[in-house]
Parts: sequence; C-alpha cells; structure tokens
Amino acid sequence: MKKKKVQISIEELEKEEYATLICYPKPTKAEFKKRLKELQKLGVKAIELSGEKEVFNMPVLGKGCVCIVVIAYINGKRVALKIRRVDADRMGMPREAEMLRMANSINVGPKILAVSKNFLLMQFVDGKLLPEWLDSCRAKALAKRVLRDILEQCWRLDRAGLDHGELSHAPKHIIVDGKAKPCIVDFETASLKRKSSNVTSICQFLFISGLIAKKFSERIGKRDKTAIIEALRRYKANRTRKNFEKVLEACGL
Ligand SMILES: Nc1ncnc2c1ncn2[C@@H]1O[C@H](COP(=O)(O)OP(=O)(O)O)[C@@H](O)[C@H]1O
Ligand SMILES: [Mg+2]
Repeated sequence: MKKKKVQISIEELEKEEYATLICYPKPTKAEFKKRLKELQKLGVKAIELSGEKEVFNMPVLGKGCVCIVVIAYINGKRVALKIRRVDADRMGMPREAEMLRMANSINVGPKILAVSKNFLLMQFVDGKLLPEWLDSCRAKALAKRVLRDILEQCWRLDRAGLDHGELSHAPKHIIVDGKAKPCIVDFETASLKRKSSNVTSICQFLFISGLIAKKFSERIGKRDKTAIIEALRRYKANRTRKNFEKVLEACGL
C-alpha cells in the first residue's frame, strides 16, 4: 500500500518526535541539536516522509545497518539524504562520499551533491529495487538490457579498481528508475584496496545462486551455469574486455 507524503520543514524538524529519525535509533538532546545545525549548513530546507520502509512509524526510503535514507529538499530540488545511524560502526560519511565520487567519475552510482560528518546528499533515484522491478517487468528484451547495463557498470568499477563490496548479495543495492536505468547504490563498504570483484560478485548474485538468479532465469531463460562460471574464471585470471564480453555472452546478454 502506498503511504502518503509528509513534508517537514527544517524548523518543524526540531520537534522532539523527529529526534529518533535524525539520530536513529537512540537520540540524545546534544546530538540532535548538533545534527540539526549540520543539516542547516548543508542547505536542507525540508525532508519528506515517504517511502516503502519505516522507522518508528515514519515512512522512509531505506534503512540499512549503518544509515537511514530519506528524501530531502535543497535548492527546491528533491534529493536523497543518507543519515548516519548513531549506532553505526563508522566514524562518518566522508569516506563513503569519497568512494561515491570515484564511482561517479565513471558514471556509476547516484550523483553526490554534498557531505558532512553525519549526512550525505545525493541524487534521488526514483524507482524500484531490482527484484521488485523484475517482478513488474514483462519485456524480456528490456530485462536483458537492464542486466547488461548493470554488468557494464560493474566492468567499469573493476577497471577503476573500486570494489563495491556488497554485490554478491545485492537485493537492496540496485535501483531501477522509471526510464529503466539501473543505479548501484551504497558505497559504504567500497574499497580501493581490496581486489575488485564486481563483475564476478554480481554474476554470482544474478545468475548463479539464490532467489534472484532463479527469478531471472524464469524471466529471461535458463542459463548454462557451468559456462558462466568458466567465463568468470577466465575473466578473473585475465581481466580483458574480450574476456568480459565472453562473460556477457555466457550470461546470454
Ligand atoms: N540515492 C538514493 N535514491 C533512492 N533510494 C536510495 C538511495 N540511496 C539509498 N536508497 C535506499 O535506501 C536503502 C539503504 O541505503 P544504503 O545506502 O544501502 O544504506 P546502508 O549503508 O545503511 O546499507 C537502499 O537499499 C535503497 O533502498
Ligand atoms: Mg546498504
């Protein structure tokens, strides 16, 4: 069921009832005050309570282990605001921002707009998470195009040496927008130090193991898993464009 949108101005946000959202899950007065100032400095004029997820009865876009994501307004524009949870095991958002910037430079991820210690502002990707999008997509050719686009983005990440880190199980990390453009989100655990395995991880998730792989094969036809695994093995040993294209081929894309 769609929940209704509620817009809350930055002034209204000072109400105690919003402390649990801004300082999820356990606010203190001092932290709340500090974070409200931080939001003002970032130019946030309002936030919008809407989305399919919920925190303390308030609808939000998303909730992860580290953050809460809501819609915010800056310069009259609707953007996504990622709020660091107070119980997060991360010091702050700047590191994630740095990773996202790098991803943006190769046209991956939502465009970053601003960052502070506890907040990250980025382009709002208005769409559905991949599994849900897939459920609603009836056109086989379109599903294939989206999959190919995802793999191409992973190839660019691999080439840049940026490992996303959470693509082997990514039901919540790919959003497909209204124009069927997939966007990889959450560079929280991304790294330049690990050997990047984006293509292998995403193929594992999309075609080899788990529920999504099953769904995809129902939608776009069964794949020869052994052939995919073999193509991935070759790609892993030698990451050339040619070997990547062999992976695409094995995946039927
Ligand atoms: N730019 C965005 N636009 C729209 N929704 C987003 C955006 N970024 C994240 N989300 C939603 O919020 C959820 C949690 O965000 P995520 O970055 O994964 O947080 P965490 O680091 O806590 O896991 C995502 O699964 C997605 O549904
Ligand atoms: Mg996440």
